[in-house]
Amino acid sequence: MIVDILTLFPEMFTSPFEESILKRAREKGYLSLDVHNIRDYAQDRHQVTDDYPYGGGAGMVMKAEPLVSAIESLNKGHHRILLTPRGKPLTQETVRRLSGLKKLMLVCGRYEGVDERVTELAIDEEISLGDFVLSGGELAAMALVDAVVRLIPGVLGNEDSAAEESFSEGLLEYPQYTRPAEFRGRAVPEVLLSGDHARIAAWRKEEALKKTLRVRPDLVCRRPVYCGLVHFPVKDKTGEVVSTSVTPIDIHDIARTCRTYGIRKYFVISPHPAQNEAIRKMLDFWEEGAGKKYNANRAEALSLARLAESIDEAAERVTREEGESPEIWATSARFEGETLGYAEARSMLQSEKGKPLMILFGTGWGLSDDVTNRADFRLAPVKGAGEGFNHLSVRSAAAVMLDRLFGNGRSL
Ligand SMILES: C[S@@+](CC[C@H](N)C(=O)[O-])C[C@H]1O[C@@H](n2cnc3c(N)ncnc32)[C@H](O)[C@@H]1O
Repeated sequence: MIVDILTLFPEMFTSPFEESILKRAREKGYLSLDVHNIRDYAQDRHQVTDDYPYGGGAGMVMKAEPLVSAIESLNKGHHRILLTPRGKPLTQETVRRLSGLKKLMLVCGRYEGVDERVTELAIDEEISLGDFVLSGGELAAMALVDAVVRLIPGVLGNEDSAAEESFSEGLLEYPQYTRPAEFRGRAVPEVLLSGDHARIAAWRKEEALKKTLRVRPDLVCRRPVYCGLVHFPVKDKTGEVVSTSVTPIDIHDIARTCRTYGIRKYFVISPHPAQNEAIRKMLDFWEEGAGKKYNANRAEALSLARLAESIDEAAERVTREEGESPEIWATSARFEGETLGYAEARSMLQSEKGKPLMILFGTGWGLSDDVTNRADFRLAPVKGAGEGFNHLSVRSAAAVMLDRLFGNGRSL
């Protein structure tokens, strides 16, 4: 791969490319790297590369002429990237895509940034290292080159290293251990010493998922997901719209399911003040009272539960939290006509990054027609093994559906 870097500080690149993997990649011919001083392309006598911003404001802006002329004169079919906090955050997916290209040009900004016309005229893609501001694009360019070059076949030596590490399957990596088998009283998990490869693989997958759900649930699902258990408006067996009683077992069990599958919050939607008072007391017991000490896991699950008097109130609270109103997915055991299948639903959870989603489960004989007609999508019903009996409890149906959408075995 040929990489050309444009910077005002070429010396910064000397040592990071003279060590370890990047050094070997250069020596073995996988990487040819040239660093160019943008100042050399400034046309005036003083080689000025920055100027005051139009419209006022702090700091200086990098001028368009030297940058565009540098990019144009070095460009030999390169993919031209500007490192900027205004770009798309760098992900392993992008790194993988870039590792398949032959020529990259990386443009490093400084000061308050780069004249917008540089991007318009001479840049193919804007990339950010993350949601923070560096003093210049150089460290971002180094990080990008490091991440990209190690994926070029041959660079790492052992191709499995890159295949198994964090993000390669959309999850963070499982915990790693090396000798000694016990350190300060902490033993390496027994399964890793068992020699049983199938058990080790299963344990690693499980641990990777647990870690990801704990610290980066956004990787499992790229959208913030909320659930609502609706007690009104729902249907009774005659089809009439009614409200149903709240049951502690649904609150407990669905909260546990939600916690297991990385749901942000779980709204128990009921308009009855007397019942709500009782639920509130129960939730307080688990949040602040003896329940927390008695069973910390249960308290952790129930900390997701919230009371809302209506679907609209729950949706408003999601909107306040996420800055955008949630898309609503309705569920039912009895939908007919067009529904959203689980494969498509999973791909919708991965795309449209960031858009909040609220999945509604109905009690009684299901959500009222009004609710399902207003929903953005109707998730396909869970069907049993045969044609006959199909009467799962709402907490069982919720568990099956959330497992199909977010579970570890979803790719099986
Ligand atoms: C001080 S920053 C300019 C920040 C700019 N005023 C803004 O608020 O977006 C100077 C240069 O550092 C680089 N830079 C800063 N943060 C970055 C990040 N998160 N990712 C990539 N490059 C970054 C860019 O090249 C940027 O032009």
